[in-house]
Amino acid sequence: MTTTATQLKHDVRDLALATQGRQRIEWAGREMPVLRQIQERFAQTKPLAGVRLTACCHVTTETAHLAIALKNGGADALLIASNPLSTQDDVAASLVADYGVPVFAMKGEDNATYLRHVQTALDHRPNIIIDDGSDVVATLVKERQHQLSDIIGTTEETTTGIVRLKAMFNDGVLSFPAMNVNDADTKHFFDNRYGTGQSTLDGIIRATNVLLAGKTVVVAGYGWCGKGVALRARGMGANVIVTEINPVRAIEAVMDGFRVMPMAEAAPLGNLFVTVTGNKHVIRKEHFEVMKDGAMVCNSGHFDIEIDLKALKQMATEVKQVRDFTEQYCLSSGKSVIVLGEGRLVNLAAAEGHPSAVMDMSFANQALACEYLVTQRGSLTPGLHSVPEEVDQEIARLKLKALGLTVDSLTPEQEIYINSWTVGTE
Ligand code: ADE
Repeated sequence: MTTTATQLKHDVRDLALATQGRQRIEWAGREMPVLRQIQERFAQTKPLAGVRLTACCHVTTETAHLAIALKNGGADALLIASNPLSTQDDVAASLVADYGVPVFAMKGEDNATYLRHVQTALDHRPNIIIDDGSDVVATLVKERQHQLSDIIGTTEETTTGIVRLKAMFNDGVLSFPAMNVNDADTKHFFDNRYGTGQSTLDGIIRATNVLLAGKTVVVAGYGWCGKGVALRARGMGANVIVTEINPVRAIEAVMDGFRVMPMAEAAPLGNLFVTVTGNKHVIRKEHFEVMKDGAMVCNSGHFDIEIDLKALKQMATEVKQVRDFTEQYCLSSGKSVIVLGEGRLVNLAAAEGHPSAVMDMSFANQALACEYLVTQRGSLTPGLHSVPEEVDQEIARLKLKALGLTVDSLTPEQEIYINSWTVGTE
């Protein structure tokens, strides 16, 4: 931890990277018109004045714009990484040096550093926690009961975090409101699907330079993220197999034109495997054993538990780093399995995460959810709350406007019809 000329506490790789970071942050801003408008309004109205805020997010050019909006809104905001491999070090440097945001994040930080930063995030004594995966909230609940009275609420970015918050609520330990940003329409329909779809392939291609056309790509999980990955892999010419545990999603995948089968059957067929299930050990020993020589495995789910790397390590005689974010596990059978991004989110480890144009809407939801927590302070019950529909609709309207698009509106006759039950068969 260092105190610089700016007197701002931070733990980033190298402040000398700030100029490059600033240029990249400005570039991302071109695709983030909705968040920019919110930021401009926040600068005038200061809805977060006096609020201490901790954000645990992937430290990217897009997150920089969220942090700037929160700061403009009057928040005393501190940022930590939500994943040890996802930080863009130049962005972290610029946020500290150019924008005055304290950041505690370094690409490649070890688990101990990651966990220390979670503690730093809580040492900030936040009133609001923006979380991505719920590590800060879980730590607060487990270890910092004495800080619960400070909390106005939390906002959660991702499916995995929502699953954890629901489990906390069911266990009776979630004593404050939690805004379910992930499930806002303007978040998951775009970020989870098109964001994960594009950025996952981007990560795979940057790490390996592999041709996807003609390859068999196995996508584990057909939630919104899996749908996006499968759609985009097919678009690049891959033969896509989907594995699922949910029968409805499995039928959906079949009717979307994908082959569906259990992982045990898909394992010997795939050239490339992508896990996006949110569950653990989706690819494990019995699957590695039957994979083709040179099969590649990667993960785009939140945590690095989807691929059982411990089992793979035990099967390996040697592990070689063959390219950045690409490791070859040589097995005693003579075959090898290639692991991308250490089994962590490949789209953020080996690429830059979702493009700015989708994060624009995700982070507009985050900023407005924080404002909502403040305006509704004291009136929200503990547990999960949806982002209000008006907020979701407003974000969509602003995005359409920024894209130069207009849509139809109801005629007075349609307005009456759609709100009445009396008119049926005529
Ligand atoms: N999650 C996925 N992509 C992201 C990005 N570009 N910035 C922040 N969080 C993300």
